[in-house]
Amino acid sequence: MLKLVQERVEKSPAGAVGRGAYRHAQATVRRALMWAVSRRGIDLSQLDKVPDSLAWPLKRDGMDPPARLAEVRSREPIHLLTTFMGMKVWLVTGHELAREVLGDVASYSSDIRPYVGKSGASDGDIGGLGFTDPPEHTRLRKLLTPEFTMRRLDRLRPMVSRIVDQQLDEIARLAESGEPVDLVPTFAFAVPFLVICELLGLPDDRRETFRSLGAARFDVTNGGMGSLGAISGSREFLLAEATRQRTDPGPGLIGQIVRETGDEINDYDLGGLADGAFTGGMETSAGMLALGTAVLLGHPEWWEKVRDDDESVGPVVEELLRYLSVVQVAFPRFAKTDVVVGDVSVRKGDVVLASLPAASRDDVFGDNAETFDPSRPARPHLAFGHGLHRCVGAELARMELRAAYPALARRFPEMKLAEQKIPFTQSSIVYGVESLLVWPGRDASVRAR
Ligand code: HEM
Repeated sequence: MLKLVQERVEKSPAGAVGRGAYRHAQATVRRALMWAVSRRGIDLSQLDKVPDSLAWPLKRDGMDPPARLAEVRSREPIHLLTTFMGMKVWLVTGHELAREVLGDVASYSSDIRPYVGKSGASDGDIGGLGFTDPPEHTRLRKLLTPEFTMRRLDRLRPMVSRIVDQQLDEIARLAESGEPVDLVPTFAFAVPFLVICELLGLPDDRRETFRSLGAARFDVTNGGMGSLGAISGSREFLLAEATRQRTDPGPGLIGQIVRETGDEINDYDLGGLADGAFTGGMETSAGMLALGTAVLLGHPEWWEKVRDDDESVGPVVEELLRYLSVVQVAFPRFAKTDVVVGDVSVRKGDVVLASLPAASRDDVFGDNAETFDPSRPARPHLAFGHGLHRCVGAELARMELRAAYPALARRFPEMKLAEQKIPFTQSSIVYGVESLLVWPGRDASVRAR
């Protein structure tokens, strides 16, 4: 099955950028933990996977976080997840405490760069902004933020609609075979991939190379190191693109930063920012598009609402973001000092992980927080994190989701899931599906033409 999906994705125009970055994020978190452990002088050579005592909060039961997370939250909104080779790893599950920890810059560090070298990692696969502290974080984020203002994003809006429509045409074309269509390569991955190519300003003739490097990211058959090699490949590509655009700035983010900041940023940091946007924006948006579509197909009344009622789209997207919280843990926070969280004393050097799905199902969202209900009173959620590292691409992601779900429902109003059992990804930092087979049904554009 996996092989089949893989072949399909690799053949698709843009769906090639698959699970590599899931592995990237997981590998980075593993490195972060390895770093913290290494500071205690423990030999890391035997540590090649995240132990189950750490990984269980990354599991899911379909759309839902594991029931154990809710139990833990009701007893201990901050919970000792494990003592991992002498280091305490805390899991925050309550909404208010998660906000408190993520917003507390004074007590925590996210920076692993000075230390990963010691555990044998190369610079090429560090997670970018999310693993950087001020003042470096401030300097780099300031370069990126102007590209994500509403004014700049508004310029991308027509392009996002065009990309969505193009992929809907692709679904219609595939549907002619009379077979179910897999929305993962054709829609969920294709839309964010093409949007990010536009955002970064990658010239058309270089996208195929970038796509094929992304295809290697998907290749799980090579195991973790194979994927990390591929990740370095696409990162190298973006570093080279930064160097190229230095003399020939393109229309997107890379060219814009070159034009506005000149020598303030070197090619390495510029390529790193581009890669951060790519890895940060791909799987997250893809996971949301695939899972969100599955949720809506399971709630026909809301499928019809996003199709027919523009006013409902915003609240539906916010509820999907909360309900799904596809990023399962925020970037790890390392205590720089002793700090009290709730009724627990976190010691300097401990790691604190905030479980975003657990926080999102907290009863601050009402006593039906476990259900999908876009009519609940609006309240800020943590699906994009909080504080210093809050997602820089949140508004772009919203723009994609707000364009994509209604367009899909309008074009294929009778769409149905083609299989009962959806193959969800297992224990990944960013939740998603391996495939999403649907019967597209009637193509509403045919009568309209
Ligand atoms: C629905 C889609 C998305 C979700 C759910 C999401 C979620 C998140 C979360 C939870 C964080 C970490 C926050 C923390 O630890 O406090 C984050 C950070 C980040 N995201 Fe997103 N993201 C999405 C889309 C995007 C897009 C489209 C981009 C860029 C094109 C992007 C770029 C980034 C970057 C660069 C960071 C690091 C920010 C920093 O450390 O300052 N994300 N995102």
